[in-house]
Amino acid sequence: MNIDQKYPSVAEMEAAAYRRLPPFMRDYLFGALGGNVSRQKNRDDLNAVELMPRYLSDGTAPDIRATLFGRAYDAPFGVAPVGLSGLIWPRAERILAAAAKRHNIPYALSTVATASLEDIRAIAGEHAWYQLYTPKQPEVVKHLLGRCEAVGYDTLLLTVDVPYETRREQDIRSGLTVPPAFNARTVWQMVTHPEWAFACWPRVFQVCQYQAVARDGLARKTSPSPSRPPPSLCVGAWAGIFCRSALP
Ligand SMILES: Cc1cc2nc3c(=O)[nH]c(=O)nc-3n(C[C@H](O)[C@H](O)[C@H](O)COP(=O)(O)O)c2cc1C
Repeated sequence: MNIDQKYPSVAEMEAAAYRRLPPFMRDYLFGALGGNVSRQKNRDDLNAVELMPRYLSDGTAPDIRATLFGRAYDAPFGVAPVGLSGLIWPRAERILAAAAKRHNIPYALSTVATASLEDIRAIAGEHAWYQLYTPKQPEVVKHLLGRCEAVGYDTLLLTVDVPYETRREQDIRSGLTVPPAFNARTVWQMVTHPEWAFACWPRVFQVCQYQAVARDGLARKTSPSPSRPPPSLCVGAWAGIFCRSALP
């Protein structure tokens, strides 16, 4: 059975992911804050978009190529950064980075990834962008940006979020922390999802790209949670292309 027959719709794919993931990862991926109001509004806005077919056209594939920051891509979109991807699907960052390169679209690697920025640059080449949640310490920002520049990233995506940490009720409920913690609740969730545990759990030790930083003893001083970023610091430390993404 091929993937189309197995999952004729995205909803069926989502249902399979929902069953496979332990609650703390399931809530991280599917959950939203409060009463899910914003998520529903986003869904409603997307549902309101209607496509108008061009009847009686000659049926040739439309040209959707786009040029961004001086580089020509085969589509006007890329892969958005998703933290902890490797805990959702094993080696997800590597798979997506390779696919982005193959399809000639950008791949934005999250600061809170489970693959190192060096590995992803090696896989995606110039299709790799780096997304930065600014750690609280300037030396960590410089360290991260230095690593990016050393391996050739030229596009930095600075995520701007609400200025205070949000209350992620679903993570409190299911026990997700960064880095993930072992306790009776999370261990039980893993034991009852063995397929996930065997495939994904080893990645947990690679959460964040602070492996090199951690060796320097800086990791404990960083916060991977989105805080008010010091853009001037980032712009000052970055020689390449700089863009900003805002999380609602
Ligand atoms: C589970 C999850 C994890 C995300 N992690 C990050 C992240 O690490 N960094 C970031 O800048 N944005 C992150 N985002 C935001 C996405 O990159 C994207 O901007 C957002 O989901 C809106 O796009 P969409 O409407 O296609 O979902 C995350 C979103 C989700 C759902």
